[in-house]
Amino acid sequence: MLEQALQYAGQNRERFLNELKDFLEIPSISTDPEHKADMQKAAEWASAQLRSIGMTNVQIMPTDGHPVVYGEWLSAGKQAPTVMIYGHYDVQPPDPLELWTTPPFEATVRGDNLYARGSADMKGQVVISLKAVEAVMKTGDMPINLKWLIEGEEEIGSEHLDDFIKNHKELLACDFCLNMDAGILAADKPSITTGLRGLAYFELRVYGPSKDLHSGLYGGTVHNPAQALAELIADMHDKNGKVTLPGFYDKVRKLSKKEHQDFARLPISGKELKQQSGVPALWGEANFTPAERLGARPTLEVNGLLSGFTGVGSKTVLPAWAMAKISCRLVPDQTPEETTKQMKKYLKENAPKDIKWELTYLHGAGAALTGTDNMGVKALSKAMETIWGKKPYFPREGGSIGVVVQLQKHLGVESVLSGFGLPDCDAHSPNEKLHLPTWNRGIDTLIHFIYNLKA
Ligand code: BES
Ligand code: MN
Repeated sequence: MLEQALQYAGQNRERFLNELKDFLEIPSISTDPEHKADMQKAAEWASAQLRSIGMTNVQIMPTDGHPVVYGEWLSAGKQAPTVMIYGHYDVQPPDPLELWTTPPFEATVRGDNLYARGSADMKGQVVISLKAVEAVMKTGDMPINLKWLIEGEEEIGSEHLDDFIKNHKELLACDFCLNMDAGILAADKPSITTGLRGLAYFELRVYGPSKDLHSGLYGGTVHNPAQALAELIADMHDKNGKVTLPGFYDKVRKLSKKEHQDFARLPISGKELKQQSGVPALWGEANFTPAERLGARPTLEVNGLLSGFTGVGSKTVLPAWAMAKISCRLVPDQTPEETTKQMKKYLKENAPKDIKWELTYLHGAGAALTGTDNMGVKALSKAMETIWGKKPYFPREGGSIGVVVQLQKHLGVESVLSGFGLPDCDAHSPNEKLHLPTWNRGIDTLIHFIYNLKA
């Protein structure tokens, strides 16, 4: 029963935290081939948890990339809803390591927070779901059917999950998917996300001379690839902060008056963004508010740059090549495929003849809007109101989660997007942390959520 489940969660918080720490100490960095064995270890950890909380048919299922962990509990009866619980066991690389106060894969509590790579994004969220289900399973009858989908490629675009879902339609059939990878607006601002941006990620290489040259012997006669790359990148935006790739805005939906009003009501302020990011002033596309620029406008970002001599001291060299990692955040109805064509067209039209360039598309994800008029959103909204004493906000977020569009496309399944990570948890940054008071509220919220779905 509800009360017993909440009590169980209250009594087991310390053990839950210790189990989360074990999960966090596995460096499951999906983008790094050297961590392949850790990916398997993290998948095994998740499957062992599923078994221990009473799930059946638990399997580690192979894909062409990292494996998917599946498990289910289907004994609530045909009249009860079937809820898919999504999670990802992979994390982003932890570098720069020297900026971490304690090592990224030694989970450490300081004050109200647990510090580790993946603590907020999203191993902490996976454990919230596991422990809420455990509390209900151990203290009464689980009132809903459950299917777990825990993948290992979210942080690299969920590339192989697309085929996995397409090939397991029956296994994965459900009423909706609970996805706790989107977070809430602040510890005192519960929210359910109604939109996510998509992504198209590229590596751009520019080649000049056949080898690094003496900059005195050749400087002034050879176009420096670092400079050529910088020029190409600089011209990817105009003076108003608009992206200049040809056709980039053609499919972008205009915001209606009502949508502008909805954005204006969100508690997302430029002042806070400035503070959290630590910049002297914000930047962005003219004529849109920061909340709109994050939720409803596409962007182009340089994620990294590399060229020439960057060691200690100096070296007068004219580098042979330069490289940039560049990604675009997309909104409906842009697609990674079309964005790739636009990027290629831009390069064909703008690259100078004195260099060679090579563009590699690394991965992407579709942009998604989700409906709010469904039983999952209602059950979660009510649960949040019980725990926080106020109704949730309904923002659109700027991040991307590949599975959301994949489930819409292959199964017609909507996702209920939220979670208990906060914007200042420093996901993907050094010293990523999980706010433990919110984490505890998260477990109680999901216990309520499960009982709110009881037929
Ligand atoms: N949890 C994030 C996505 C997110 C962040 C949703 C903020 C809502 C608000 C997720 O783990 C993530 O970081 N995804 C990647 C996906 C990409 C590599 C395709 C991202 O957004 O960079
Ligand atoms: Mn992430």
